[in-house]
Amino acid sequence: MTPAPAHWSRPLRLLHWLMAALLLALLAVGWTMTHVQRDLGTTFALYQWHKSYGLLVLPLLALRLAARLAPTPAPLEHSRLERRAARAAHLGFYALMLAVPLSGWLMAAASPLALPTRPFELFTLPAPVGPDEALFERLQFLHEVLAYALLALLVLHVLATLKHQFLDRDGILRRITL
Ligand code: HEM
Ligand code: HEM
Repeated sequence: MTPAPAHWSRPLRLLHWLMAALLLALLAVGWTMTHVQRDLGTTFALYQWHKSYGLLVLPLLALRLAARLAPTPAPLEHSRLERRAARAAHLGFYALMLAVPLSGWLMAAASPLALPTRPFELFTLPAPVGPDEALFERLQFLHEVLAYALLALLVLHVLATLKHQFLDRDGILRRITL
């Protein structure tokens, strides 16, 4: 049997940091555009930015899942419980990286404003549902809850990384550094 590699594969390391930056920017822009009053032109531009870059998460996620097929380093966690928690957190991230953009897409389609979604002005995204106020409100709530669940998981993930790096001193960051 070949021994487990010392690092995550290069494509996975690249995608981890590229997507981390993108997801943080999406959380920040999503919050700003819904909470900070601006002129209509700026708000519209922020929404378009958010939708285009939010949809970009889906093809990147497909690439990341493909990159995940390469051999992965052995778990560093010390107890069975920690190992299970880390697996659950990583699985949770993948589920949310799929569910957040999908709920956003459906919400935009159900919006009573009935504006087409045109990622990067390249093409018009198909609308799986039509304008529907009640459905829009439910999806808006769902998108918000899922997006902030992603943020909460990120906080736990960073705390776990700090614990490994500075308390256990097991060099965890080296395994994912570019
Ligand atoms: C929203 C942003 C982030 C997401 C969704 C995320 C998700 C993940 C996932 C799913 C893995 C497992 C490997 C993989 O499948 O890619 C991982 C590994 C890792 N992440 Fe993140 N991450 C994020 C941000 C961060 C940040 C900001 C840090 C640094 C403080 C960090 C530190 C690490 C480390 C050290 C590992 C390696 C764990 C190991 O070797 O067992 N991540 N991350
Ligand atoms: C992983 C990707 C995404 C993240 C992390 C994200 C995050 C967020 C956040 C944090 C908010 C603010 C919620 C609030 O406080 O009310 C938001 C709002 C919104 N998002 Fe996303 N989003 C993503 C993808 C998408 C996509 C793909 C679309 C549509 C194609 C979309 C459409 C919207 C819309 C229209 C709003 C505003 C809803 C309102 O007016 O209340 N998002 N998003």
